[in-house]
Amino acid sequence: MLDWEQLFATRSSRMRASEIRELLKLLDQPDIISFAGGIPDPALFPDAAFKEAYSDIFSGQQVNAALQYSVSEGYKPLREWIAKDVAKIGIDCTPDNVFITSGSQQALDYLGKLFLSPKDTALVTWPTYLGALSAFNAYEPNYDQLSLNGNRTPEAYRDTAAKIGGSVKFAYLSADFSNPTGETVDLAGREKLLALADELDIAILEDAAYQHLRYDGEAIPPIMALDIARRGGIENTRTIYSGSFSKTLAPGLRVGFVIAAMPVIRKLVLMKQAADLHSSTINQIAIEHVASRGFDAQVAKIRAVYSKRRDAMLAALDKYMPKNATWTRPEGGMFVWVTLPEGMDGAELLAKSIATEKVAFVPGKAFYADGSNANTLRMSFSCADETMIDEGIKRLGRLISNAIRAAA
Ligand SMILES: Cc1ncc(COP(=O)(O)O)c(C=O)c1O
Repeated sequence: MLDWEQLFATRSSRMRASEIRELLKLLDQPDIISFAGGIPDPALFPDAAFKEAYSDIFSGQQVNAALQYSVSEGYKPLREWIAKDVAKIGIDCTPDNVFITSGSQQALDYLGKLFLSPKDTALVTWPTYLGALSAFNAYEPNYDQLSLNGNRTPEAYRDTAAKIGGSVKFAYLSADFSNPTGETVDLAGREKLLALADELDIAILEDAAYQHLRYDGEAIPPIMALDIARRGGIENTRTIYSGSFSKTLAPGLRVGFVIAAMPVIRKLVLMKQAADLHSSTINQIAIEHVASRGFDAQVAKIRAVYSKRRDAMLAALDKYMPKNATWTRPEGGMFVWVTLPEGMDGAELLAKSIATEKVAFVPGKAFYADGSNANTLRMSFSCADETMIDEGIKRLGRLISNAIRAAA
């Protein structure tokens, strides 16, 4: 048999099957209560609005353009709609600063490709979005822990990067309701990050996939908005903002976007021409059709449902979890992050949980660039109703309490 490994490029050695993908298969088993997949509840998709959108496209003049190749930057009316929508949160930009991607996952791949030479350093939070690590891994970077409390000096970051043989290129983070922890970076943390990025002279990749899903608390301006305000305009910013319609409208259409200064956009356009020419024309038109007619109402609808599920999960954790477990209390998004006592292993617990309790979650270790913190779990509340959440957390609480007792 051919030894494929010796033919594959060295970058392929860091491409590994994602634990999350494997786990998503569990969702097909009807008797499992799953807190594993970080996906939207399909019952909340605006399917009637999409049906109308596609029907309008096919019954009107637009059909030929919708089925044709189109420009790499993306569908202009959609870029105009996005520019107007983000203006509401302080991101003052032109439609030319908006670049459409096939999901925001593609933005992460492109940005990894654009910035990272082998051995360069990407600063990421500990933990971070697993899909970002997968996207960046192909470009053979080094990861260093992004600290937002100012306890690492710029020199420390620079020295570590130089020892590896590259330089620090960007800091990647989700400032609102991050995947996996559900946590939000406060205003002071955002300002500190901008100051650190200034000192290191690096880009900031702000992943805003969950931005619209706030259930309570005060909205904090995006890092991009703060950067624009400080610099007097988008062309002087160092932040690159990525957004997505996956969590608000539907992920299957694969429509996301990047907002950045023109030098970055121009490079991304060239990359897209080389990679896939453009994102699906018809899906971009359909997204614009649905967003321009009812985006805010759709967001209000999903917020109402997810906030109740978030409340149910927090209440169940309070009720059933042993005292020595801790968890985040997110103000939005889809996730609660649970930390168990040191020495416990989320992966072992998952195997037991599926076998005896029929409850799934994601072990937290995969979200750490260094594979540490095996005693953590990511729990998603987006796809289970309140009764299932109470029952699932009850079973999990029992399992964890028993495991802690057995280890004592
Ligand atoms: C933080 C974060 N960024 C990006 C993505 C990618 O989403 P999409 O490509 O569907 O826009 C996800 C998906 O779960 C995510 O959680």
